[in-house]
Amino acid sequence: MTRFLRMNISSSTAVDRFDPPKVNAMIVCVCEGLSDREIAQTIQAGANTLNELGHRCRAGIDCGRCREMLRGMLGDRCRSHARTAESGAASQTT
Ligand code: FES
Repeated sequence: MTRFLRMNISSSTAVDRFDPPKVNAMIVCVCEGLSDREIAQTIQAGANTLNELGHRCRAGIDCGRCREMLRGMLGDRCRSHARTAESGAASQTT
């Protein structure tokens, strides 16, 4: 998790302008400034592939360093769906 260091330097205007996020969030795609929450919302809205994430929120379309994390987030979503489908199928057969 990214942590922000608040420095107590009276002459620094950059620190004064720094506006930390209101909620805990981790930037996943640095190039587009997208947090894990924004990407998770895009996945919940129906993005199932890296290409769809790129089209919907621009995640992963620049340097590509975030793509492994995005794949992991997409994989979590797929595994979660599979478990839900399996439990739903199991309850129908019993
Ligand atoms: S960090 Fe996501 S495209 Fe560069």
